[in-house]
Amino acid sequence: MKILISAGPTREAIDPVRFITNHSSGKMGYALALAAVKRGWQVVLVSGPVDLPRPEGLAEFVQVVSAAEMADAVKSRFPAMDGAILCAAVADYRPVTVSNKKIKKSDDDLILHLERTEDILKTLGTMKNAQQILIGFAAETDDLEANALAKLKKKNLDWIAANKVGVPGRGFQADTNAITLYNATGEKIELPLTDKESLAEEMLNRIFPE
Ligand code: PMT
Repeated sequence: MKILISAGPTREAIDPVRFITNHSSGKMGYALALAAVKRGWQVVLVSGPVDLPRPEGLAEFVQVVSAAEMADAVKSRFPAMDGAILCAAVADYRPVTVSNKKIKKSDDDLILHLERTEDILKTLGTMKNAQQILIGFAAETDDLEANALAKLKKKNLDWIAANKVGVPGRGFQADTNAITLYNATGEKIELPLTDKESLAEEMLNRIFPE
């Protein structure tokens, strides 16, 4: 089994010293990579900037910074994979222009013009063949189930992990997490709160029963 896993945040530059990012620590994605390595799978981990040790036993480790770099790294490797789990918190918007000099502050407000980044998961949904398994995450503060099911369908996924965020002990930064898995054939599996390593193993056990 060859699997690609994405993890961590992306950084979208504003100028040489500033960027837009989010709170992803990479812990959930790295836990999934470790769980997949433990199964003896060939694991390609594409990671945004995080402060975590590189998991041992990876087939490949690809470090990226921006959403565009993550898109290139993921799309170029996906055709050779049996599946992909996109756990990264990719920026949805980036500054239209990146100043090559530090933007000087003034007394006026500063308005940033942002443009959409590519939805990498959605692109993979258009690329995937009948044998490939595509799994996404949905990080939601509200309407978890409805939003997750909408993403499952819109992005042509096999499974989605609905992740409630904005509550202590779950989602971004935390060492623990809880998710609900939904698949394209209508199955729903609740995985209750536990450490991210155990949750990652359980997630693989449920999606890929041995
Ligand atoms: O890293 P941690 O601190 O451990 O936190 C874990 C987590 C909360 C980041 C993780 O569990 C999680 O929920 N990851 C998905 C974060 C996210 O960006 O969710 P979303 O609902 O905005 O995106 C939906 C899916 O599309 C995700 O699989 C995402 O990787 C993908 N996506 C999003 C935007 C984009 N431009 N391209 C994408 O591929």
